[in-house]
Amino acid sequence: MKIAVLKETWPGETRVGATPDTVKTFIKAGATVFVESGAGAQASFSDAMYEGEGAQTGALNALPGDTQLVLCVRRPDDAHLDAIPKGAMIIGLMEPHSAQDFAKTCADKGLTVLAMELTPRITRAQSMDALSSQSNLSGYRAIIEAAHIYGRAFPMMMTAAGTIAPAKAFIMGAGVAGLQAIATARRLGAVVTATDVRPAAKEQVASLGAKFIAVEDEEFKAAETSAGYAKAMSPEYQAKQAALVASHIAKQDVVVTTALIPGRPAPRLISTAMVDTMKPGSVIIDLAAAMGGNCELTQPDTLVEHNGVTIAGYTNLPARLGADASQLLAKNFVNLSALLKDQSGAFAPHWDDDVIKAMTLTRDGQIVHDSLRA
Ligand code: NAI
Repeated sequence: MKIAVLKETWPGETRVGATPDTVKTFIKAGATVFVESGAGAQASFSDAMYEGEGAQTGALNALPGDTQLVLCVRRPDDAHLDAIPKGAMIIGLMEPHSAQDFAKTCADKGLTVLAMELTPRITRAQSMDALSSQSNLSGYRAIIEAAHIYGRAFPMMMTAAGTIAPAKAFIMGAGVAGLQAIATARRLGAVVTATDVRPAAKEQVASLGAKFIAVEDEEFKAAETSAGYAKAMSPEYQAKQAALVASHIAKQDVVVTTALIPGRPAPRLISTAMVDTMKPGSVIIDLAAAMGGNCELTQPDTLVEHNGVTIAGYTNLPARLGADASQLLAKNFVNLSALLKDQSGAFAPHWDDDVIKAMTLTRDGQIVHDSLRA
């Protein structure tokens, strides 16, 4: 298998699709690996470290013409697409729900594209699930960012000069990111509450020592899809949820929102009127900022100040942990590569495998994913 690793061009992106360790794994399995010069620099992996594990490094124009598998974090830009040989497969986070034009460009160039976001949520594919590996780090980092912005301490502190009350943290959306945010806030000593629309979240929240609050009606009982994601809730449910959140949020110091519905705008959970009831100095970290935000006041990648409340809409928190995020993503790629080769180690994608089928956007010059076919 002939593998190439691209240098990312997206502003602020620090991650890379392979680490020296995963390069070593590929080469041990008989692959050759080309790493574009500087690809790992922002994640603390130098060219020399990749070379030390047997990779060839070089500028984009040295990308080997017989490359079969291209690893990247985000959609490659046009210069990269032009440099990738026809017939090669590109895997990365491709934002598949808005990939119509990108998929057409790749299909026209004869490039096969696999979107990591479409990894099915089945046990066998868990080790390939990049959304989970990256969300986990986002949840952790959201609390670190909140602690940095918040002008008070998280834990209760009893000192000779008086007692500091613990911070109250409220996590909205208790999926992968939310659960890690709960665990991190608890470790820092906050008093944590959390909400979600999926009943499965209730026990998970409780097992982390946080209190679960939610509108638990009939709609709540049926809110989880067979794929493990949440459904979009009815206007009636949203109204009941808003009333519950409004009374709770006024007492919170830190709010982390993570609520997402795949392929749709993020549900609006916090109105400006709700923010108006919060104390000055409170912090909202909105992890749904890239999908429009869970808070009405969120601006992507901006710290918004509203009556003393800070609303942070970071759109790429994993990039603030570039080395760890790269390590997990690169391992996801290694695990997926088992479905892209035959027993001799030669590049031979298992096209009939349900995991590969679910992830393939383009193949043989065609857009093949149902969600992208006109
Ligand atoms: P996500 O990133 O799509 O959404 C984040 C959270 O927001 C979810 O928990 C969702 O229920 C919640 N949410 C959506 N609308 C909401 C609303 N109106 N109010 C409050 N919360 C709302 O989901 P994520 O984190 O990727 O995963 C969801 C679940 O899938 C996880 O609990 C996990 O257990 C499961 N999962 C299973 C995997 C597997 O079996 N291979 C792999 C990864 C996750």
